[in-house]
Amino acid sequence: MSSQPITGQRILVTGGAGTIGSALVDLLVDADAEVLVLDNFVRGLRANLSGAADRAGGRLTVARATGSSSSRAISTTGTWSAS
Ligand SMILES: NC(=O)c1ccc[n+]([C@@H]2O[C@H](COP(=O)([O-])OP(=O)(O)OC[C@H]3O[C@@H](n4cnc5c(N)ncnc54)[C@H](O)[C@@H]3O)[C@@H](O)[C@H]2O)c1
Repeated sequence: MSSQPITGQRILVTGGAGTIGSALVDLLVDADAEVLVLDNFVRGLRANLSGAADRAGGRLTVARATGSSSSRAISTTGTWSAS
């Protein structure tokens, strides 16, 4: 199995404000990926993403999911919003 470089890739992390998701976001940001986080913030915290946001230099976008499933959330959220 071949591996692809993470650098420059655009990667979606659902639940990215949670414990495991935010740790993954940290790793991806430090590997120079462009990261999109989709989280409903029922359990996740923006504070979990503050370190990554500081280091990302605009490569981290966070969107609040609405609705009860991620597929529905993406359709209702529409465009990614930085916050
Ligand atoms: N933390 C651990 O040590 C650990 C160990 C083994 C397994 N797990 C499992 O891994 C998973 C993640 O664990 P965690 O500790 O990161 O949990 P967590 O609650 O910290 O993270 C889950 C994230 O998903 C978000 N979320 C939930 N439903 C959503 C929805 N419909 N749309 C968008 N976002 C949504 C929450 O707001 C939260 O930020 C869980 O299933 C957990 O049982 C965790």
